[in-house]
Amino acid sequence: MPAGPLTNDSGADAPLLIERQDDRVVATLNRPHKRNAIDQATIDALHLLCAELEAIPRTLILTGAGGIFAAGADIAELRERRAADALRGINANAFVRLSELPMPVIAAIDGYALGGGAELAYAADIRIATPSLAMGNPETGLGILAAAGASWRLKEIVGDARAIELLLTGRTVKAEEALDVGLVSAIHESADLLPAAHAIADRIAHNDPAAIIATKRVFRAPRDRHPAVDQEAQAELFESPEKFRRMTDFLERRTR
Ligand code: COA
Repeated sequence: MPAGPLTNDSGADAPLLIERQDDRVVATLNRPHKRNAIDQATIDALHLLCAELEAIPRTLILTGAGGIFAAGADIAELRERRAADALRGINANAFVRLSELPMPVIAAIDGYALGGGAELAYAADIRIATPSLAMGNPETGLGILAAAGASWRLKEIVGDARAIELLLTGRTVKAEEALDVGLVSAIHESADLLPAAHAIADRIAHNDPAAIIATKRVFRAPRDRHPAVDQEAQAELFESPEKFRRMTDFLERRTR
């Protein structure tokens, strides 16, 4: 369990600002003076947010304050961490939990998403960004590896060849290239970034939440679980009242 306060409602200087709506939550990384570097307090707040979204599933929009997504794990904390801390997977476990949330996670990325900030974004289901995007994993330059998801998620997103080149060089990818290689699915001007994320959440909200949850879960299942995992999930949905309601709606609309 995370340490720290039991709620995420700790005021305007909290490391993660949370805005709740019926069908979605917007969480804003909020350490702009440290370029939203992800410290232990941010990780604790992310765990609390995950607990809330596991209990009451809603779409999550994740973004950053001050024209930045996140400039990485907090290097001041990282420098003091030792082998035992690495083995605890402090950031990796939080990002895995986030990626396993029942409903979709949308990362709305303005400016820098570096190191752990990039890995947090890789853990999202959908990534959109602004023209000032600068994304990458410079960890090897700091004498460590990108161990909070980049080594497996980045290649799932952009393929092996591109991922290993990015990880070995530590170079930063700008908006145009990120769009080209599928690292992000759209680019919007800063002022349009959150509205665009909400528009995606709106589209998701029109669909059946149970079907969305099943789609995300089945999509993430290991290869050898298919097609059984698809069929089991579909069997449940085939019996759901919402399926009958939606299909009847469609058929009756056509005959009206
Ligand atoms: N961890 C801890 N502190 C960080 C940080 C990080 N990842 N990134 C930025 N900061 C802090 C700086 O130390 C500085 O703090 P100070 O004002 O107390 O000195 C403050 O945030 C502003 O950073 P600064 O470098 O002056 O901002 P900038 O706008 O000139 O540059 C970046 C922005 C993102 C290019 C630059 O901060 C940077 O390279 N950060 C580290 C990126 C990185 O290596 N990430 C991987 C970590 S695993």
